[in-house]
Amino acid sequence: MRAVDIITRKRDGQVLSREEIGFLIEGCVKGNIPDYQISAWLMAVFFKGMTAEETAFLTDSMLHSGEIVDLSDIPGKTVDKHSTGGVGDKISIPLAPIAAACGVFVPMMSGRGLGHTGGTLDKLDSITGYRTRLPQEDFNRIIKECGYAMTGQTEKVAPADKILYALRDVTGTVESIPLITASIMSKKAAEGTGALVFDVKCGNGAFMKTPADAEKLASMLVNTGKALGKKCSALITAMDNPLGKMTGNFLEIEESMDILEGKGPADTTELTLELAARMNMLAGKASSPEEGRKAAEEAVSSGRAMEIFLKNVALQGGDGKKLLADRGRRRSQYKTEIRAENSGTISAINAYEVGKAGIVLGIGRTRADEEVCPDAGIIFHAKQGTEVKKGDIIMEAYGKNSSCLAEAAAMLEKTIVYGGDGGESSGHTSAGNIILKEITDGK
Ligand code: URA
Repeated sequence: MRAVDIITRKRDGQVLSREEIGFLIEGCVKGNIPDYQISAWLMAVFFKGMTAEETAFLTDSMLHSGEIVDLSDIPGKTVDKHSTGGVGDKISIPLAPIAAACGVFVPMMSGRGLGHTGGTLDKLDSITGYRTRLPQEDFNRIIKECGYAMTGQTEKVAPADKILYALRDVTGTVESIPLITASIMSKKAAEGTGALVFDVKCGNGAFMKTPADAEKLASMLVNTGKALGKKCSALITAMDNPLGKMTGNFLEIEESMDILEGKGPADTTELTLELAARMNMLAGKASSPEEGRKAAEEAVSSGRAMEIFLKNVALQGGDGKKLLADRGRRRSQYKTEIRAENSGTISAINAYEVGKAGIVLGIGRTRADEEVCPDAGIIFHAKQGTEVKKGDIIMEAYGKNSSCLAEAAAMLEKTIVYGGDGGESSGHTSAGNIILKEITDGK
């Protein structure tokens, strides 16, 4: 077999076999096929696409390029959640303990933030002492002790994805639905979870900007999961406006605790409970989304979910006492306010632009090796749908230093849309309608 023939066949729109795809992935990981040939093949895939079967073959080859985590000692059904990434998306943090309180075992492996989107690990790292690099034995032990554990992916999980992603990043081939599917699914399947719920974001702050693309990605994720023997379901959810009332690493831990206590914002609460409902169904703990949601609501109202969260913090080395003492107080000393320039109703706050301002403040990063600031963040006092008077505070912004504040404030002012219909907003308001569509088994 020769790489050039496989590239040519894909360039001409032909369907590749499992052996051809396996040959390319093995050659890429072993260094037998040069980057320029892999890049040319990625571009051919970008333009010609892949069938569902080719995508499943690619995912399977990438998955077997590294280690597969062994969760066989977990005494029950395992379900993880994956979000395609957004601004203010802290949902994994309250979701895992809520699902755990319902009897689901949640082996959660998350990533760091990059570009305008945040990452769960950066948020967890803001809890003093909390360990986000757990050895395998600790990961499994903590799941058994409190129902869930949260860690970063090791270098050994799907190494092919790291090589391919780095090439996609510099060759303009990131935005390909089969390549995104194989990238996400290979990592998630390598984590050993039995089932998966996807939160596929849609809107200006998401990878998928249109409902049609979000639906294609959601269907491909669910179908590829099925081909790998994993039960999956996906919710397509709005990402035009930042989620919740806070963005920032420690601030999002605070908002997660609010959700766990039943006093979170409407949109983040709704999304968390609906995802928990699907996790309950996939684990066989509920026979309908309604029943799954009821169990999730009960886990919150009884205080069990919050108890499990605090137990997890302690098991992962976090300082729970300091966390509770810091709640509502821990803020960067460098602060600015963004006030309403007009009176009227806010129709949208552009999530993508908020994410970019977040990088300036120090919430996020543009390069994988950059540090983030745990205490940087934005508190939204008004969101889409809120009526404001000229001069009202709309946002408080906290920065990593004093010199970033003026630039970030100017960027944040431009994120606010007054009146009108919110431009291209998918209709997500702070009162709800965050869930746009559900895809289960490709339907
Ligand atoms: N997230 C991933 O893990 N991979 C992609 O290709 C895109 C988003």
